[in-house]
Amino acid sequence: MTKIIGHRGAMGYRPENTMSSFRKAIMIGAHGIEFDVHLTKDHVPVVIHDERVDRTTDKIGEVKDYTFGQIRKLDAGTWFSRDFFNERIPSLKDVLSLDVTDDFIFNIELKAGSYYYPGIERITLEQVHDCHLENNVIISSFDHSALLEVKRLAPTIKTGALFCARLYNPWVYLKRLKCDFYHPDYRTIDKEIIKNANRHNMPVNTYTVNSESIMHDLIHADVNMIITNYPDLGIRILNY
Ligand code: G3P
Ligand code: CA
Repeated sequence: MTKIIGHRGAMGYRPENTMSSFRKAIMIGAHGIEFDVHLTKDHVPVVIHDERVDRTTDKIGEVKDYTFGQIRKLDAGTWFSRDFFNERIPSLKDVLSLDVTDDFIFNIELKAGSYYYPGIERITLEQVHDCHLENNVIISSFDHSALLEVKRLAPTIKTGALFCARLYNPWVYLKRLKCDFYHPDYRTIDKEIIKNANRHNMPVNTYTVNSESIMHDLIHADVNMIITNYPDLGIRILNY
């Protein structure tokens, strides 16, 4: 059965990558959540999408230039609505400590951009182990070298490589990377690719699908996971 994963929590309804966004996704009945991890100046993994805090907080600057104590003081909710002025940037530990069912999925995206955070793979895995969530996490990234490093450090942890381009026989490359899942932009796949990926034992977890009719088609094409800003839409289709 296709699983519905809340993108940055339930970012259609709450400020993205905040505890209230994650709780909203859980309340809706999502099978899991997707979120983005960067490291602070003192190497604490924190959950925020951009490399800079400008768009989603009341301050400016790069995540890597803030200590955890400093970044924790920022308001991560008011940009979305004044109702959320108390929201803070969560630590990875905060998110992994949420009260969820045994089969809940935490899709941790290691952020890759213009800056690479040395040690982000090891630090993230330590927290996963501390929380005993080895069987609940999928680590994804556009930085495929980081995924290989995750597999080197922890071969049984599931990984998924993110892509935004259409690929030829993606399972060939994904298997070389030791990936467990293919994470494409939904606009780059079709029924045939999903069928062939499944045949090659490479389940497809696609992002970011916010249209009900596209979700419907993907579910019927047997996609493994749909990552969406509106998890309620996907759950409704599954329950129909
Ligand atoms: O994990 C899928 C998706 O979140 C990747 O893109 O930019 O939303 O992190 P982005
Ligand atoms: Ca993401």
